[in-house]
Amino acid sequence: MIETKERKSKSAAPKKQIAEIGNVRKWIDLPQIAKNPIPIIARNLREHGGIYKVSTIVNPNIIMTDRVEVIEHVLQRNNRNYHKSKLQTEGLGKYLGKGLLTLNGAPWLKQRRLIQPGFHKKKLEELSHTMMNVIDQEHRILDQYASSGKTFDMSKFMMELTYKVVVRGLFGTATDETSLKRMGHIIDFLQELIINKNRKPYMRPWFWLNRTEHKGDQMKAEVDEFLMQVIDERRSSGKDSSDLLDMLLKSRYEDTGEPMSSAQIRDEALVLIAAGHETSANAMTWLFRLFIKHPNVVQKIREEVQRVCPDGQVHFEHLPQLSYTKQCIEEGMRLHPPAWAVDRVALEDDEVNGFPIPKGSLIISFIYGLHRRADLWADPQAFIPERFHKDNAKSRKRFQYIPFGGGPRLCIGNSFAMMEMQMIVATLLRRFDFSMIKDQKIEALPLITLRPKYGIKMKAHLR
Ligand code: HEM
Repeated sequence: MIETKERKSKSAAPKKQIAEIGNVRKWIDLPQIAKNPIPIIARNLREHGGIYKVSTIVNPNIIMTDRVEVIEHVLQRNNRNYHKSKLQTEGLGKYLGKGLLTLNGAPWLKQRRLIQPGFHKKKLEELSHTMMNVIDQEHRILDQYASSGKTFDMSKFMMELTYKVVVRGLFGTATDETSLKRMGHIIDFLQELIINKNRKPYMRPWFWLNRTEHKGDQMKAEVDEFLMQVIDERRSSGKDSSDLLDMLLKSRYEDTGEPMSSAQIRDEALVLIAAGHETSANAMTWLFRLFIKHPNVVQKIREEVQRVCPDGQVHFEHLPQLSYTKQCIEEGMRLHPPAWAVDRVALEDDEVNGFPIPKGSLIISFIYGLHRRADLWADPQAFIPERFHKDNAKSRKRFQYIPFGGGPRLCIGNSFAMMEMQMIVATLLRRFDFSMIKDQKIEALPLITLRPKYGIKMKAHLR
């Protein structure tokens, strides 16, 4: 909807801007960058040895890189000098609130220390039952597609599945289906609005005039009210539960022994939902497309699942043994990292390997490019899950593969996501074969995460 209204006003928007790229002045094509910046960044990085500066009217110091040592420096070694950008803190923060994903500095650390223990092994084991139940229920949708022969969009299916996994992981069964659907719709709308405001800053007055901005505010208020209601009901019920909301309610700050306020829990819950479903959905969608192209890989996964889970049910204790399945997921996220880039802002002047990073620079670590560097990966465009066999891990540099980011702000949900994805792959491949609809356009659309722009249409076949 946002897109349709925009089109009418496009002619008024500036399409080109002068910029200095690695000391050369060039015109940059804003709509092209808004459409898909990946090939442009990849080409520039190749030409400039893995790091270059872009100076635009809006920001004179944007530094793009896919060099391991620079990324490690920014995310890990000198991480105290780097904060998340305004896009995260203010852009995302306006709609997701002040939670782990959108905070910086001391307030972030306070929240991280509080919430990190909630994702420990025991909690994940408890959550694994809910997760498996959701996957079990949702795969019945594919049963219907398989028996009717109907085409479906794998991207949409995975979005709905991973959304339910994270929401049920958070709230158990405390919310009804209709409210869940409405909240999912609102989160999608808000994410699209955030992206459009960021990618097309010249459209902002238009969003204000055509009341899209106002609609965003209204929707944010609605989702806040809904979450507060769930939190208040749980508080007043006094019931224990094994979900993440229970963990958020019971956690206590180290220094004061106080619990989080309801507003803080609301913000953290919203962050977990937003950060925790589209990422896994995209990883899964791209991987299932790769599976169709690599039937030998699927065969190996099936043999592993049959050996490890002979009764067909995947349990928490099976996961370490589903090691080939895990390698496939890892290799899928190498080729299609859902978080295709992460950004930081330098708080003070810095330098890495002789490359100056002036205070205020926006540094973009281009994970997509890093994962496909020809000097780091043999045959980088090929899908070879065995790269991630434990015997091959030693030859990899520490920050060469970072689908979950790195350093202190490493994804807090990484184990949750790996568990979820192993369960999804094992369950679906055991039951179904998949085929692609011919002649469809498949293109990556790098928004906050790396989505397939037109979805990926498939058919499911019962085995
Ligand atoms: C395949 C799935 C996932 C991928 C690829 C992924 C990727 C990432 C990345 C790259 C970051 C770091 C961003 C940065 O440094 O700027 C991050 C942070 C985060 N992720 Fe994930 N994520 C996934 C799943 C999840 C799940 C399932 C959850 C929650 C249940 C989650 C919650 C978060 C949160 C809260 C943060 C912010 C952590 C902090 O800054 O302290 N993610 N994720």
